[in-house]
Amino acid sequence: MKHEVSLPTVDSKGAVTLEAAISHRRSVREYAGASLSLDAVAQLLWAAQGMIGHGKRRAAPSAGALYPLEIYLFAGRVDGLAAGVYRYVSATHRLIPVVDGDSRLSLSRASLEQAWVAEAPVSIILTSLKNRLFVGSGGERSS
Ligand SMILES: Cc1cc2nc3c(=O)[nH]c(=O)nc-3n(C[C@H](O)[C@H](O)[C@H](O)COP(=O)(O)O)c2cc1C
Repeated sequence: MKHEVSLPTVDSKGAVTLEAAISHRRSVREYAGASLSLDAVAQLLWAAQGMIGHGKRRAAPSAGALYPLEIYLFAGRVDGLAAGVYRYVSATHRLIPVVDGDSRLSLSRASLEQAWVAEAPVSIILTSLKNRLFVGSGGERSS
């Protein structure tokens, strides 16, 4: 099993406006065939569930600030990152290895055989901790 991966620092300014990003976004299922940079992957993970500001608050809002969502990265072709499944730790902006090797085909099969899931350089999977879904459910915030 590989070691934890410290991710590159994120760019919280950006060169593209929110309005431009919304105007130009489109779902695509064909990919250029190139690898993603680790910078780009780190940016996506941070935008999804990374930490912002000085408190224990995340980039995405959460009812009651309980933050039940946990993110897994299925990495296939990322420069500087071994193929595998990783858990993103929001608090430390690091990846913890969960499964060694390319698991994109398994994910594609689990996604009702959607072939493009196996071809995407990465997939980001959102999961939810059910014991952190409501106040008093007993879940400790782990990340
Ligand atoms: C909750 C959700 C689940 C989706 N699941 C899939 C999926 O399993 N496979 C896929 O190819 N696209 C999926 N999509 C993308 C939609 O098909 C896509 O957003 C829709 O066709 C509209 O196209 P647009 O994103 O380009 O506006 C999903 C979108 C959402 C919001």
